[in-house]
Amino acid sequence: MTDPKATNITWHNQAITPEKKAALHGHKGATLWFTGLSGSGKSTLANAVATALHERNVSTFVLDGDNIRYGLSKNLGFSTEDRIENIRRVGEVAKLFTDCAVVNMAAFISPFRSDREIARNLQPDSFVEVYCLADVSVCESRDPKGLYKKARAGEISGFTGIDAPYEAPESPEVTVDTGANDLSVSVEQVISYLEYRGIIPPAG
Ligand code: ADX
Repeated sequence: MTDPKATNITWHNQAITPEKKAALHGHKGATLWFTGLSGSGKSTLANAVATALHERNVSTFVLDGDNIRYGLSKNLGFSTEDRIENIRRVGEVAKLFTDCAVVNMAAFISPFRSDREIARNLQPDSFVEVYCLADVSVCESRDPKGLYKKARAGEISGFTGIDAPYEAPESPEVTVDTGANDLSVSVEQVISYLEYRGIIPPAG
């Protein structure tokens, strides 16, 4: 699916570079890539981080797994091949947001390490992997959408953590223990890391 099909195409550089856009915004762009099981708190944390950043005048956008499947990835399901294509598309879109000097949050299960590496390699200097760590038993007890129940009942097949794999990150920039910690602790962890990396200026 990712083999190039088009021929006779030419790359056009933009007159307004990412550096100029960063100067306009007062901060650089970056992708915070939240990965973890369904129900591990990716979307909740991504939106809480977006809120905290917005309050500090940082431009943000949340790319949310469920939402993207209403549009950009509406022709994709949850087979391995479709998940790979989903993450490929999102990785490309995330890079566009970074080039606009927007701090973008991608909240996707993104179960395969190799796909997350592909997304990272599009923007190695501005990619921050945030592992939302929560045991499947914790996610299942939360079950905010009732999907674990359906998966256990055999109404959904290929559900991540039940009968489809999840490859945990080996060296994520940030690991948040959403199973054990309050949301505010996880938000602070992410924000501190962004300050440490100089992606956003220090508070105050
Ligand atoms: S990914 O695997 O391609 O990264 P994505 O993050 O877009 O997944 O979508 C995950 C969301 O789709 C889950 O939070 C859940 O609401 C829903 N979903 C529906 N079917 C499945 C399934 N078989 N496995 C995992 N999530 C599913």
